[in-house]
Parts: sequence; C-alpha cells; structure tokens
Amino acid sequence: MGFRWLPVPMDSWCDVADAPSLSPGHCRTVEARGRRITLVCLEDGFHAVEDTCPHRGASMGSGFLDGCTLHCPLHGWAFDVRTGAGLTRPDKPLRSFPTRVLDGRVWIEVGTGTPEGAAP
Ligand code: FES
Repeated sequence: MGFRWLPVPMDSWCDVADAPSLSPGHCRTVEARGRRITLVCLEDGFHAVEDTCPHRGASMGSGFLDGCTLHCPLHGWAFDVRTGAGLTRPDKPLRSFPTRVLDGRVWIEVGTGTPEGAAP
C-alpha cells in the first residue's frame, strides 16, 4: 500500500502575512480576496475568523485576546478564535477559516467563490 498524493486546490488559499510578523497572543486584520479576516497567532499556531463582529460590525482585528478568547473592541462580545464560536451569544458565531504556514508565510483558505455581498 503506497502513499497517494491528493492535490490541494491552491486557488482557494490566500497568502496573507509573513509568519514571524505576528507573535503569539496578537492579532490583526488582513485582507484575503476582498474579505476582511482577523488573523490570530496563538501558541498552537495561526487561526482566522471573519473580521466583522456580528453585533454592530466592529473590526475584530482591533479586539483583545485573552488566551483563545477574542473580545470585540466595542462592546466586548467574546469568541473562541479556534472555532469562531460565540461565547457571549452562541447564536452569533464568527465564520472561521483554515490556516497553514508554508515557507514562512501564513495562508488562509477563503474558498473560491466571491465574498458575500460582492458583485460576481
Ligand atoms: S460591535 Fe462587537 S460586541 Fe458590539
């Protein structure tokens, strides 16, 4: 039984940051294919969630991190950055995106479709 290589559709991945530019415990907003995403660095690696808070639209990249919990900078709603789960309002999660580090660069899989709200 041999190893079978499965091709990865790289067109759904976006190169968003230099990995060493973000240290554990920090986050910032990046843009990937017209979509604003909060990139978070934890001790276990990088995580990515939608940047727009589902409450009133604040940029989560300006929020504050407490372990794996990201707090919105406006009214403090809390989210688990590993899954996007809403901790303050479980019915209002953030979308999360897969990440990977390749040759010192952070990549986010944002999908191949157009972002919501964008013209096709
Ligand atoms: S805008 Fe995020 S909690 Fe209000």
